[in-house]
Amino acid sequence: MRYAISYVSTAKKEMSEKEVGEILTSSEEYNNEKNITGLLLFSDGNFFQVIEGEEEKVKDLFETIKHDERHTNVIKLFEKPIYKPAFDGYISDYVTENTKYNPAKLKDYHLHLEVLDSKTRHAVNNVLRAFIY
Ligand SMILES: Cc1cc2nc3c(=O)[nH]c(=O)nc-3n(C[C@H](O)[C@H](O)[C@H](O)COP(=O)(O)O)c2cc1C
Repeated sequence: MRYAISYVSTAKKEMSEKEVGEILTSSEEYNNEKNITGLLLFSDGNFFQVIEGEEEKVKDLFETIKHDERHTNVIKLFEKPIYKPAFDGYISDYVTENTKYNPAKLKDYHLHLEVLDSKTRHAVNNVLRAFIY
C-alpha cells in the first residue's frame, strides 16, 4: 500500500528565487531516487506539495520537510493510504505570471494527481486552482 500527504506552507520572507529553485530541483532529484511521486509548486511566496510513496518514507519525509527552516506555517491538507498504482514521476515547478495560465502545465499537474481517489483529487484540484490562479 502506498501513502500520500499534502500540505501548503509559506516560504521564509528572505528567500531568493535561486533558493526556491534549489528546493524545487533537489526535491525532484531526491524523490525520483526514493520512488516518491507527486508535485511541488511554488507561487507568490507559498508552497503546495503532494508526496506519495511507501508509507514510512512519506511519513519520514514529511517530518523532515516540516522542520525545514526555509518555510513556515506548514498546514497539512490530507494524509491517507492510496490504493491506486503509483503515477510514474514527480514534478516541481515555479509558477510565474507566464506559466499560470498554461494549459499543458495544468494537464501535467493533474496527471500527477491521478493516484488520488476521486474525492481527494477533487479537493486537491480546488486547492490547486486557488493556488495557481
Ligand atoms: C517546501 C519544501 C519542500 C521540500 N520537499 C522535499 C521533497 O519533496 N523531497 C526531499 O527530499 N526534500 C524536500 N525538501 C527538503 C527537505 O526539507 C530536506 O532539506 C532534504 O530532504 C534533505 O534532508 P536531510 O538533510 O535530512 O538529508 C523540501 C523543503 C522545502 C522547504
